[in-house]
Amino acid sequence: MTFNPLQERGIPLDKQLRNWRELNVTPTDPDHADPYTRCRIITMNGIEVEAILFSHQLARHCPDLELKQHLARVRYIEAQQQKVVNWLLPGLASVLETTIAYEQVAVDLTAWVARMEPDPYLQQAYQFGVLEDFDHLYRYANLYEMIEHRKAEKIVDNLTEVMPGRPTYLHHRDPVDNVREPYDKSSAAPISKLHALTIMSAEQQTMNFYMNVGPTYMEPIARQLYQEIGLIEEEHVTHYESLVDPGESWWEMLLNHEYNECYLYHSFMETESDPKVKNIWELHLNMELEHLRLAAELFKKHDGRDPEQVCAPELPQPVTFEPNKAYLRELIATQIDYTTLGTGYVQDAHERFEKMQEALMGGEKAPSERVIDDNRAKSGEEYRLQTEGDHPVHSLQMQR
Ligand SMILES: [Fe+2]
Ligand SMILES: [Fe+2]
Ligand SMILES: [Fe+2]
Ligand SMILES: [Fe+2]
Repeated sequence: MTFNPLQERGIPLDKQLRNWRELNVTPTDPDHADPYTRCRIITMNGIEVEAILFSHQLARHCPDLELKQHLARVRYIEAQQQKVVNWLLPGLASVLETTIAYEQVAVDLTAWVARMEPDPYLQQAYQFGVLEDFDHLYRYANLYEMIEHRKAEKIVDNLTEVMPGRPTYLHHRDPVDNVREPYDKSSAAPISKLHALTIMSAEQQTMNFYMNVGPTYMEPIARQLYQEIGLIEEEHVTHYESLVDPGESWWEMLLNHEYNECYLYHSFMETESDPKVKNIWELHLNMELEHLRLAAELFKKHDGRDPEQVCAPELPQPVTFEPNKAYLRELIATQIDYTTLGTGYVQDAHERFEKMQEALMGGEKAPSERVIDDNRAKSGEEYRLQTEGDHPVHSLQMQR
């Protein structure tokens, strides 16, 4: 069934405001919810936060009072959507449990996007990044076992493996080498624009989360690990945001943001297993259809172009949370030793990379290495969840 969001009618903007009772959603059950329902909630929170931040940036560049007022109205609804979505998370989960869920999102969402991305340069960017978040999951899972005495399989539920990817300490590159070439807005496939926005938003939310929750820990190793991985998420935001063509006008960017919100709510409505959560995805889709219509009007007025010229004529295949184990093992086996040089990729540690490493490490082991050593010492062995056999790289197989 084809679905063209530009042709659909949503809920009129003045009917979108919700009262306290409607905003007060029942959170999902932490013990029985589908882990991928939690992943969809986290993804949509990242998307709504980006909708809010993008609209604020646009408003700050907008001298027209009436336009600013219009942006404020839509943005208030985005803010209500963000509250509803993020408040689906149960209060019982610890910060570290939420962290592990964030990295599970980064792994399975980015792997899915990499599999579906038609442009080889963009696909390489996702393949490169996913091996790093995959390793973050392993580092945090060891921290979790060490300080909360619980196992990450309680959170990822065997859907995502937990084992080394590209080792975290090797993610610290010279910032210059984190900037990629953008796609070309006039020739890129619409799906490529949506992919870039989605992953950029997810990484931005992870960066924001770690920079705020990191110092809430008492344990020195936890504080240090969040600092280290927080800095890598900054690199990831730089990496993914640079894929977006900066030549898009503000109105074209707004249009792409609203279209992407429609795409993702529709995707999650189609694939959601929890009926109560599904109802929220459906309601929000109907709100976004109206946001998209309004953005399309602004685009026509200010850019003098037709939205059909830049948007997909129908929604692409739904974004799906599903295991990507074989795909990730293949990437680990072939791309684990990649780093970046300028806007491309190389397999050797080059001079600029070595210089950054030396300056940052200061002759010490990184927190991401120490957390594994410490957990081995404390729990007898490090934590892994390898459901598909031994690690594909011989030197990274479990040492006992
Ligand atoms: Fe929204
Ligand atoms: Fe990460
Ligand atoms: Fe990341
Ligand atoms: Fe929206």
